[in-house]
Amino acid sequence: MTQTAPHVNYLKDYQPSAFSIESVYLEFELSPLATRVTNSMQMQRQAKGDLRLDGENLKLISVLLDGEEVIEQCQIDEAGLTLAVAKEKFTLRIVTEIEPQNNTALEGLYRTSDNYCTQCEAEGFRKITYYLDRPDVLSVFTTKVIADKSENRFLLANGNLVDSGDLDNGKHFAVWQDPHKKPCYLFALVAGNLEKVEDTFTTADGREVKLEIFVEPRNIEKCEHAMESLKKSMKWDEERFGLLYDLDIFMIVAVDDFNMGAMENKGLNVFNSKFVLAKPETATDIDYEGIEAVIGHEYFHNWTGNRVTCRDWFQLTLKEGLTVFRDQEFTADMLSSAVKRIEDVRRLRSNQFPEDAGPMSHPIQPQSYIEMNNFYTMTVYEKGAEVVRLYHTLLGETGFQKGMQLYFERHDGQAVTVQDFRNAMADANGVNLEQMHNWYVQSGTPNLEVTRNYDAVTQKLTISCQQSLPNSDDFQPMLMPIGFGLLDKEGEPVTLEPTFESAANVELRSDTHAVLKLTQAQQSFVFEDVPADAVPSLLRGFSAPVKLHFDYSNQELALLAAKDEDSFVRWEAMQTLLLRTVQAKVAALQSCIDYQLPSEVIEVARSLLAAKEIDPALVAMTLSLPELGYIGEQYEVVDVDTIYQAHSWLEAELANHMQGQWLDVYHRCVNDAPYQYDKAQIAERMLKNLALSYLGVLSEHQSLVLKQYQAQHNMTDVLAALKTMLKHQHPRSVEALQSFYERWQDDNLVIDKWFTLQAQTQNDHALQTTQALLQHKDFSLTNPNRVRSLLGVFSRLNLVGFHRADGAGYQMCAEQIMQLDALNPQIAARLLGPFTHWKRYDEKRQQMMRNALQQILDRKGVSKDVYEIASKSLA
Ligand code: ARG
Ligand code: ZN
Repeated sequence: MTQTAPHVNYLKDYQPSAFSIESVYLEFELSPLATRVTNSMQMQRQAKGDLRLDGENLKLISVLLDGEEVIEQCQIDEAGLTLAVAKEKFTLRIVTEIEPQNNTALEGLYRTSDNYCTQCEAEGFRKITYYLDRPDVLSVFTTKVIADKSENRFLLANGNLVDSGDLDNGKHFAVWQDPHKKPCYLFALVAGNLEKVEDTFTTADGREVKLEIFVEPRNIEKCEHAMESLKKSMKWDEERFGLLYDLDIFMIVAVDDFNMGAMENKGLNVFNSKFVLAKPETATDIDYEGIEAVIGHEYFHNWTGNRVTCRDWFQLTLKEGLTVFRDQEFTADMLSSAVKRIEDVRRLRSNQFPEDAGPMSHPIQPQSYIEMNNFYTMTVYEKGAEVVRLYHTLLGETGFQKGMQLYFERHDGQAVTVQDFRNAMADANGVNLEQMHNWYVQSGTPNLEVTRNYDAVTQKLTISCQQSLPNSDDFQPMLMPIGFGLLDKEGEPVTLEPTFESAANVELRSDTHAVLKLTQAQQSFVFEDVPADAVPSLLRGFSAPVKLHFDYSNQELALLAAKDEDSFVRWEAMQTLLLRTVQAKVAALQSCIDYQLPSEVIEVARSLLAAKEIDPALVAMTLSLPELGYIGEQYEVVDVDTIYQAHSWLEAELANHMQGQWLDVYHRCVNDAPYQYDKAQIAERMLKNLALSYLGVLSEHQSLVLKQYQAQHNMTDVLAALKTMLKHQHPRSVEALQSFYERWQDDNLVIDKWFTLQAQTQNDHALQTTQALLQHKDFSLTNPNRVRSLLGVFSRLNLVGFHRADGAGYQMCAEQIMQLDALNPQIAARLLGPFTHWKRYDEKRQQMMRNALQQILDRKGVSKDVYEIASKSLA
């Protein structure tokens, strides 16, 4: 907690540590209000200077330097301890006491459902003991855990179990040894009365690894999918990356109170239970996919994060961008790469683009921070993954894997930088990738302006590209691969023939598909023998994280949507058509004129829906309306109500005009087979539930929606029906919501959905609904999932409610954020997101949003997490 302006950390100030820790022995005597931590470190001097250890909220009991008490010589302040040490090599033994029971910030050692658990990344270890809490200090850890046996059946930490036994007074102990050097952010300890599910995995080199998932006893039936996902992850990392697991045991623990998704602690991953627990009655396809992806993500960190870690936190994207890229590829290989790519692009545009256009905009390698936890962002993670994908696109799978191999050869066991990663990619392939640096240090989403010039006499087509960054004076051009093709006016692919001058920058991947290598701010690519009226297919596969501008006609978009060989471009073309339609309607509503749905929109939608050869999941994604947030992004000033109105109008138009087809599709996709998490069933449900959401607009199909709800077939279908019922105020929606609650009141993850459903429903009483839910007995500010389900969803997705003209939505959120800041700063800071975009609203709303931010910032005891975001967005 701070009153004065807090300390800012800068990348340019990086200095290696003056001391190293060769090994550390930790002993925990667990007790909810007084846990005693004994920390013995074998230390060695590396450079001149006093010893400075990080430590926060610790009660210091003793400090022994080679057995001699030196507590009196220590200078203690709120961030750590300083001690002048003359020796080169010494043992420092520090005893502290902490109160896990009162730790509501969920950082360090805390309690969740009467169990003990830790979260140390980024800087939580300093809330457990005094330490060199920085990722470039690697040490070998041994951990002894002592606790009451009846309340803590399992005592877990990193590595292998080397000793255990009973003690006096009903206590017992366990000793864990992790042979791999690691930074303290990867430390973990868990204790409590959990239940475990066991399995094994045999590595490619024939070692048997024990797999254990620990959950609360009531959840023991919901672990199967997580275990399958873990085994698939291990196999995939062997097959695709040649990476094998390196300990005898791999453990996952699911907890209900967790600030983020999950954490890759060495050998002992700790997960938000949302990303472990599933059965068809309680979890949707999206949940199943999320579990598989997050289990993969954390498992993949064992190599990209743990074996090779970050030198400092400014390098976070080194492990996160790379590991997100890996988990994206994993999901693509497990399900459908085309569908996965579109899902990721949609997420990037709806969440990362706005972040990059707002006051918190930062490069994937930030240059400074006040609170590191604020930089676990869509930019560092998702844009970071896009940048890793650029290497993959430029080098191809084989070249990329060569780069990975060299990266591990050079850096296994080290803490390195994004530059080291780039050098490995470049050196392994004998290419120069220096220009990639510009992606790491510049913020903002690049604009890519493309124009065409066709010469009918020579039949040459010139594609001119111009790249730029918004609000950047000294913009440095980036290396941009642009996936490219041409369609003739019938939609047939055109054979690509770059001119001699262009050939150097055009990499042909097939006769009809190329990658244009854009390296300059302005650059042209010329093709020969191009038929008249050819349509360029641009940015295939979303080959770079940019905003593409090109003056397509509606007819050209319709052609691309129907015919392009690239599924991303087909999706994108249709989405652009739909977006244009919403925008035209917005303009018409704003100037009170009439506007009719263009016929080509209906025609292409009809033909897509009729195309039986296309994956139903792709059809569903193509015919889903662009998200409200993404539509808002297109405007300088967002007119929330009108956008919502236009969006609803288009939904109703598509519902009406295609009613018969939606019905056919719906009935074609209904499937009574037992739920399975597989590509075909997921795709079928996706399309069926899209059809249902359109049919739900029309009162004559109310019984169909109700029937799907009542069938209670699986959570994907139940939730889709319920969502549609709430959105269109189905006469039975209140009753359904009630029955849903009664059935699932003991299942936290399902009750989160119940809160979300209501918080996201946009209507005139959205605010009152949310306010009432704040008073519900199941609401609590101390559970992050619950907070996200209600307040996070309301402020991010309920645009109509949050942006109410009277400011009551802002006021309610501001009050909750202030209360939450006193309990859990990390989550409070996250909830500020929607407020940071105040510049995008009309003047009256701007003023009210700024007032809310100011009020939050002025709170006595404001955390540095909230301080950083509120102050930067008001500046
Ligand atoms: N390393 C974790 C992951 O992405 C995230 C941990 C973030 N924790 C935090 N407190 N910011 O897998
Ligand atoms: Zn991660």
